[in-house]
Amino acid sequence: MTYSTLIVTITNRIATVTINRPDKLNALNAQCKSELRDLFSKLKTNPEVDVVVLTGSGEKAFVAGTDIAELTKLDAVSGKEFAANGQSIFDLIQHLGKPVIAAVNGYALGGGCEIALACHIRIASENAKFGQPEVNLGIIPGYGGTQRLARLVGAGRAMEMILTGNQIDANEALRIGLVTKVVPQSELLATAESIAKTILSKGQLAIRMSIKAINATMEAPLNEGLHIEAGLFGECCSTEDFREGTTAFLEKRKPVFKGK
Ligand code: COA
Repeated sequence: MTYSTLIVTITNRIATVTINRPDKLNALNAQCKSELRDLFSKLKTNPEVDVVVLTGSGEKAFVAGTDIAELTKLDAVSGKEFAANGQSIFDLIQHLGKPVIAAVNGYALGGGCEIALACHIRIASENAKFGQPEVNLGIIPGYGGTQRLARLVGAGRAMEMILTGNQIDANEALRIGLVTKVVPQSELLATAESIAKTILSKGQLAIRMSIKAINATMEAPLNEGLHIEAGLFGECCSTEDFREGTTAFLEKRKPVFKGK
């Protein structure tokens, strides 16, 4: 897979995707968004990949937002299309069916914060900064930020971040649950890889069903979410991985999962 704005490596079932426009702090331009759509569509069905790590190039930025130079000509109609296009790419990430870990290595602003929000796990380096500064430009977050941020950290905190446009640092992001770990930058990718390896050691069907069930909390009312959870639990109970996992526990040995 060759792209002009993305670097992709696949090793031991982990795809590492680096957004690579460091001179523009990895801002998402049209090319980059189209490459992300193409790449994630392929990762979805790539049997060699079970976990994805998403990061930014360089030591300063994860993604400093959508490319502001491409916003200036938008009007009501094209603006709505622009937002819907970005939303559909980030939806593809959230519904990839495989875990995506955002390794946030610097600024995650605007669309950068929003792409991290679409990932399933977020960890950050100590220098990371998060923000939704769209109001500074006279717009609102349009790639899912108003919805996913409020669901993740609560409406009150999302209101403050979005209405002030203020950035928060990595420790504040940890405190409010926007990320789950903060580590020195030199350890960021190794930490993401270690989380990925832990996930890879489990039954992959159960991992996928877990994501599907947790995603339902974002999309369905509680009674519907509980119904979805029960259905997925039942599906897991019909798998070989389930038989192997429970049998291995009772036989006091490590399970050998086959993803079946
Ligand atoms: N879109 C387009 N270009 C961007 C960008 C964005 N979102 N964010 C940064 N860049 C570009 C800058 O224009 C600059 O390009 P240049 O060297 O050709 O002039 C380069 O990246 C470096 O950024 P710079 O602003 O010089 O770095 P800084 O350290 O002074 O500031 C930020 C860093 C992140 C605080 C600042 O770049 C910023 O506020 N970016 C915009 C963030 C934003 O509003 N994102 C939401 C967009 S909806």
